[in-house]
Amino acid sequence: MEAIKKIINEKGIGKTIGIGGSATIYRINDSGLAIKVSPLDGFFRPWPNPSPDRMYRGLYKEFVTQSQLYERGISVPKPEGLTWVRSPKTGIFCPSLVMEYIPHTNPHQNPEYERIEKMFWDEVEKAKKVGFIPSFDCDPYNNWLFNSEKNKVYLIDFRFWGCQNDRK
Ligand SMILES: Nc1ncnc2c1ncn2[C@@H]1O[C@H](COP(=O)(O)OP(=O)(O)O)[C@@H](O)[C@H]1O
Ligand SMILES: [Mg+2]
Repeated sequence: MEAIKKIINEKGIGKTIGIGGSATIYRINDSGLAIKVSPLDGFFRPWPNPSPDRMYRGLYKEFVTQSQLYERGISVPKPEGLTWVRSPKTGIFCPSLVMEYIPHTNPHQNPEYERIEKMFWDEVEKAKKVGFIPSFDCDPYNNWLFNSEKNKVYLIDFRFWGCQNDRK
């Protein structure tokens, strides 16, 4: 993580690759890494004056879920770690999740869409079988990526996912 911070400090954070509900995702220069700067930086700012501490805890939970999924062999971008970076958009320090960058194309424009969508649902089923509870926003229009070169789907964005072992 120190090496990654050094690159960001020296060269800047890189190009914007996605704007989600609550975060902006950048590709760290031309590295194989993406960084999710969240959530003081997104489209919807969560309620007035979000506390950075609370935001960090939210992202920490997402990082833990993504790490557990990765370890269970579910197809997700490999999580690397959490850090704080200054948002190029707002200038404030934001909690951020560093992970593998996944080159992707829009599956909805792919002539083989049906086959690809089935791969998405198969991956969701695999995650359920090992005890995860996908969230309301895990659907064919949100929160997955398709890499055509590898013919592989990746689930992303685990903010609202649960796990059967979570304490009620
Ligand atoms: N690891 C990644 N590699 C490449 N692009 C990504 C990656 N993670 C997210 N993105 C891009 O950023 C967008 C928003 O990411 P997401 O995690 O869903 O953010 P949010 O929680 O704000 O909805 C995705 O739809 C995708 O275009
Ligand atoms: Mg999303």
